[in-house]
Amino acid sequence: MSTNVILLGPPGAGKGTQAKTLAEQTSLSHVASGDLFRAALRDGTELGMLAKSYMERGELVPDEVVINMILEHIQAPDCAAGVIFDGFPRTREQAVALEESMAQHQSKIDVVLYLSVPNDVLLRRIAGRQTCKTCGATYNTYYFPCHRPGICDACGGKLYQRSDDSHETAQHRLDVYFAQTMPLIEYYQRQGILHEIDGQREIVWVNEMMLKALDQYLPTSV
Ligand code: AP5
Repeated sequence: MSTNVILLGPPGAGKGTQAKTLAEQTSLSHVASGDLFRAALRDGTELGMLAKSYMERGELVPDEVVINMILEHIQAPDCAAGVIFDGFPRTREQAVALEESMAQHQSKIDVVLYLSVPNDVLLRRIAGRQTCKTCGATYNTYYFPCHRPGICDACGGKLYQRSDDSHETAQHRLDVYFAQTMPLIEYYQRQGILHEIDGQREIVWVNEMMLKALDQYLPTSV
């Protein structure tokens, strides 16, 4: 039996931050659609080149491209115990495709953790985000800066700002979220599996709430 969790929330809500920690605390695998696209782009693959134009504009990559990528990825053996989905699904079509695929594998989404955060906080978090090129650690110039400017505390790698984190693109990503992804809140609410968490609180508090919400679904206590 696997445990499958979706982290739902707007850009900058803390999905990536929380998913990384949860994956370390559980046997679940962290699958982030945005990270997969960025890795494909770094590798110069066809998928990466296709995704690039959409990501740079803050638009969603077409459903069939994302769906194929994710459904293939979760067949890997390291996803057998379950998955923490970060950034997927983002449309009703993606949600339905995921459900159908899981049903074919006698599996299902157990819980959707929805992080709610006000817009002004989201834009500030996105503007301040810095990511390590080497190990992927995330910092924030407003909330928890690294000790040496531009250098990762964890591994000494160089920090960069995502190209889609400019103010204009971040604002557009939020608009896209409200138009195309927000309807999923009601979609999962109707299924009775949505669990809302105040994503404005400190990272550690949010993690504790997530672990509490997941407790009944995890095979062993963490
Ligand atoms: P993606 O990479 O998924 O970006 P996103 O969903 O916009 O989310 P972010 O990564 O911006 O935010 P997050 O919620 O992970 O926040 P984080 O933890 O980093 O997608 C990028 C693009 O790829 C999309 O625009 C689209 O083009 C394409 N794409 C991806 N998936 C797709 C899909 N399914 N369909 C179609 N297209 C798709 O935190 C943000 C900052 O805040 C960090 O600095 C962090 O340190 C800080 N922070 C986190 N939590 C807290 C806290 N509690 N208090 C203070 N600071 C905090």
